[in-house]
This record gives sequence, C-alpha cells and structure tokens, in this order.
Amino acid sequence: MKDIFTGKVVWITGASSGIGEALVKAFVRGGSRVIASSNDSAGLARVAGECSGLQGSVIAVLFDLSDTSGIDVLAADVVHREGRIDMLLNIGGISQRAMLKETPLWLDRKIMEINYFGTIALTKAVLPHMISAGGGHIAATSSISGRFGFPYRSAYSASKQALHGFFETLLLEHRNDNIRVSVIIPGRVQTAISLHALTAAGKEHGRMDEGQKGGVTTERAAEQIIRGLSRNRREILVGSTELLMLWIRKYLPPLFFRIAGKIKPM
Ligand SMILES: NC(=O)c1ccc[n+]([C@@H]2O[C@H](COP(=O)([O-])OP(=O)(O)OC[C@H]3O[C@@H](n4cnc5c(N)ncnc54)[C@H](OP(=O)(O)O)[C@@H]3O)[C@@H](O)[C@H]2O)c1
Repeated sequence: MKDIFTGKVVWITGASSGIGEALVKAFVRGGSRVIASSNDSAGLARVAGECSGLQGSVIAVLFDLSDTSGIDVLAADVVHREGRIDMLLNIGGISQRAMLKETPLWLDRKIMEINYFGTIALTKAVLPHMISAGGGHIAATSSISGRFGFPYRSAYSASKQALHGFFETLLLEHRNDNIRVSVIIPGRVQTAISLHALTAAGKEHGRMDEGQKGGVTTERAAEQIIRGLSRNRREILVGSTELLMLWIRKYLPPLFFRIAGKIKPM
C-alpha cells in the first residue's frame, strides 16, 4: 500500500464482502481511516473485527443502496465525525442471471436502483463536501459487461454502462475542483457476486459460476485497484486474460458477437 493513503479518510461501499472487503483491509493496513458500508451489519462487524490491530481504523456505516432517502444526512454526519472524506470508493453492487425476456421490469429497476442510483446518490451527497475541502478522489465500479452487452445480464450491463456516462461527466465538470475520478472495470474476481446475483424471480442465483472461480483473488483485485488509484487512472482494469474481451469487442466486433453469442444459460 502506498503511504500516500496513510491517514486519509476513505469511504468504501460493498465493504462486507469480496472486492470491497479486500479494499477495506488493504487501506486499514496502510493506515487509512476507513468508513465501511454495506447493508449487512454482521458482515461489517466481522470485517471490522478482522482489521483490529492494523495500523489504520475502521468504522461501520450501515445503509441500503436501494434506499437513498437519508443519504445527504448520512454523508454530512460522516464528515462531521471524520472531519472530511478524501476518497469515496463505490464498490457495492449486485449482478443478474436471467434472460431479458423473463426479467420483469421491477427487477430491472431494482438492479438499476442498487448499481446506478445508489452509487450516484452517495456520490452526489459526498461531492459538495469534497469540493469545499479542496478536492478528493471518487471511484465507481463498473464491469467488463459495462463495456458491452452480455447474455443473462441485461439490467446489470445497462446499470454498469450508465455509470460510465455519469462518472465521465463528473470528471469533466469537476476537474477544476480537484475532483479525481476513476472507473474500476473488473473482469472476473473470486467473490460471492454470482451467488447473490438475482434470477428472473428476484431470488439469489445461489451458485458459484465457473468464471468467478477462475478469476483473480480479491487481494490481487485490491492491489490492482490501489495501484490504479495511486496513479489517478481514469479507468482501472482488474482481472486477467478475460480482459481481452474488451479489446476484442472494440477491434474485432464480429468475433466478440460470435463468442458472447455462444454463452449458455447456467
Ligand atoms: N466479482 C467479479 O467478478 C466482478 C466482475 C465485475 C464487476 N464486479 C463488481 O464489483 C463490485 C463488488 O462485487 P463483488 O464481486 O465483491 O461481490 P460481493 O462479494 O457479492 O460483494 C457485493 C457487495 O455489495 C454490497 N451490496 C449489494 N447490494 C447492496 C445494497 N442493496 N445495499 C448496500 N450494499 C449492497 C454487498 O453487501 P450486502 O451484504 O449488504 O448486500 C457486498 O458488500 C460490484 O459492483 C460488482 O458488480 C465484480
């Protein structure tokens, strides 16, 4: 961990599991003051417990990304307690495993609420505090399926693609306020994302996909993300050979559609 993050106040969503959890531990190890958020109090307490004795500190702030009604008050409260927010890492999100013709509209909306509206609501709540403090760094988590459509992930892919538009605009509008913006683009990371992915009935998929099993570890993902943040990258690619799909989609689209079109339902 770069010592540029020592003593910094870093707010991380999705902190109770997977990539977010690994980031919390890496930042606390590096001496940051971490605000760890998710909608799972037991998970946050476990992560905080596992950070005890490390150089930095962690406090848990519970909130549901699908209910952003009190988000401005929450952000103001965090700033009041911590003094400032140097970095906001929007990591929390949920995936999907359902054909689009079977996905009811309420489920499209639910995935959009969590992945897109929850993320931008927290960002909008934190932004004025960062601007008045002289700047900060905000990251959002997309996916390689935020760069192309992908079978069984219509709402997921759409929610992630929407983040690119929002966060690129944020970067352009607030460059002069010293607001740095990064979009994290993971390929495959070994996490519980496919277990919690929503089926057409809105239930958890409950299965670990082969792709997830073969992904990079969460620790490796955290290293890649932290390196990208420390270099102020606009886009941070996370993963391994599966990231080639981004290149194939861009430069060899017929090949991309041949490969992705063969993906079978799980
Ligand atoms: N793993 C991959 O291969 C991969 C690939 C591309 C993109 N990503 C993205 O990476 C991010 C992190 O995912 P992960 O792989 O680490 O999955 P994960 O292990 O399932 O973690 C997801 C995190 O998001 C939180 N979350 C989900 N719904 C929430 C809600 N309504 N309110 C508050 N928090 C909520 C979860 O907390 P709760 O327990 O409170 O639900 C959990 O902490 C996601 O945005 C995902 O789309 C992952």
